[in-house]
Amino acid sequence: MVRIGVIGVGYWGPNLVRCLRESPHCEVAYICDRDTKKLKQICDRFPDVIGVTDPAEVERWGVVGLLHDFDYEQNPTEDRHLHVGGRILRERGYDEEMVRTIESHANYMNVPRDTPMKKAIFACDELVGFIGACVKVRPSKAIADLPVSSVLKRLKDKAFARAVSRDDVQNGADGLPRPLEEHVSFTMEALKRIAPEIGL
Ligand SMILES: [Fe+2]
Repeated sequence: MVRIGVIGVGYWGPNLVRCLRESPHCEVAYICDRDTKKLKQICDRFPDVIGVTDPAEVERWGVVGLLHDFDYEQNPTEDRHLHVGGRILRERGYDEEMVRTIESHANYMNVPRDTPMKKAIFACDELVGFIGACVKVRPSKAIADLPVSSVLKRLKDKAFARAVSRDDVQNGADGLPRPLEEHVSFTMEALKRIAPEIGL
């Protein structure tokens, strides 16, 4: 699967995006255009595609997602996870907003979630782990045949994957411009695209 970001949608943009989406082994992940009106029109038509106005922003979201837990394996406790990671990232020259965004995904860091990226990383962090737990109990052990309804049902079952904070999942979704059901579905679709790479 090739993931594509289309930069500058122009007059033929909607057609181009439609053709790329219909091509096998090809996925349009991002659309970038400075014209916010045009960007909104195209994003409304293709709601699973993320629209941005700055190509560097696409890279930035990816890097924050990639690095947010990089120190966790060696520092799994609240007094070390992100305290250590934040220090290392600052030492290596990552800009403060990026580091603060990474730190904001844990409640105990007390970083206000005042940007879309901070809201998004918090909304995805616990939910992705929860979806992984739902996959593990499927006979197929695959996300491909996991229904959204099953994930929503298990969220209500407090005994299942009890380490996942249901409040964090709900509060995370509440910070997004879509309800929990849609957020679960959107996140699952994103995971399905990379399922073989992450063992789902
Ligand atoms: Fe974390």
